[in-house]
Amino acid sequence: MPDSWYPVCPSAALPRGRALAVQAFGRRLAVFRCDDGSCGVLDARCRHFGADLSRGMVIGKALRCPLHGRAFDGKGASADAGRAHDSGQPAFPCIERFGLVFAFHGGVPSFPLPFPVGIPPDVHTSAHVTTMMLPMVCVGANAFDTAHLSLVHGRELIGRPEVEVLSQHTISIGFTARVSGDSLKDRLLRWLGHGEVRVETTCWGGNLLIFHHRRVGTFTVHAALPVDASSTTVFTVSGRASPRRGLARARERLRLAVHHRAVMSIVRQDETALAGLSLSPSVSGGSATGAGTLDPLGDHALTAWLEHFHALPRSGTAA
Ligand code: FES
Ligand SMILES: [Fe+2]
Repeated sequence: MPDSWYPVCPSAALPRGRALAVQAFGRRLAVFRCDDGSCGVLDARCRHFGADLSRGMVIGKALRCPLHGRAFDGKGASADAGRAHDSGQPAFPCIERFGLVFAFHGGVPSFPLPFPVGIPPDVHTSAHVTTMMLPMVCVGANAFDTAHLSLVHGRELIGRPEVEVLSQHTISIGFTARVSGDSLKDRLLRWLGHGEVRVETTCWGGNLLIFHHRRVGTFTVHAALPVDASSTTVFTVSGRASPRRGLARARERLRLAVHHRAVMSIVRQDETALAGLSLSPSVSGGSATGAGTLDPLGDHALTAWLEHFHALPRSGTAA
């Protein structure tokens, strides 16, 4: 899997003083929240004798093994007095943002967990979490696959999508589309004078997508965590900048809720269309030998994204 920040659980699932097990990075992880509110992500298999640390007890800023009681902090270092030189426990860098707990797979983080450009994530919705029976590559590919817009989403592409590789880890796409669907929502959009939509998306590490909805001042994060080679858990959160308090904040929250509802209807269209998808070996295996091999539809944006995905740095060993 590419080196990246991966969502391991919603923040709300992890109260202070609790640990939980998450299957990720080809192993079982122990994700825990200390008494001061900070989080840690450790390999759940205790190095001493193999006990499951996710069943351990949080004490102060450490997680204590349920079998012999060794304690480890969020960096995996021994937290026991007199055991500072113990080998410690494999740990993953961890950050909380958008109401999600992220862990970096691939050693020392090679890029920071991104913020949406120009929009401080003051307010966000709770996370929609779903596990889909498809490889992780399909989640990002969907955002760059403009050929499905018309049939699945009722949007007709206007002009050629702009695709830009921004760094070794980052690629973006921008396009304008005409709202052509027949649903009540689409007819309402046209009636309100929003007959065209502008979509700008940036993808980090092949799994972390941020959709910028600049016209309405919101963003949506779509963060994917591979469960195994053929299934992926996707966390979806929307957010927007907001006044600190008062009626204005309540109004912004309401606008965000309405917007997120519209986003989720698009996500569900994708979930239905993608269910049961199985990739051809030329796409899933990374044999990027040319546009004809990768993408029979000749979609230059999708081809660019697949080539970028297969070239992403991969320093870990997990599937
Ligand atoms: S198995 Fe964890 S301390 Fe012994
Ligand atoms: Fe889609």
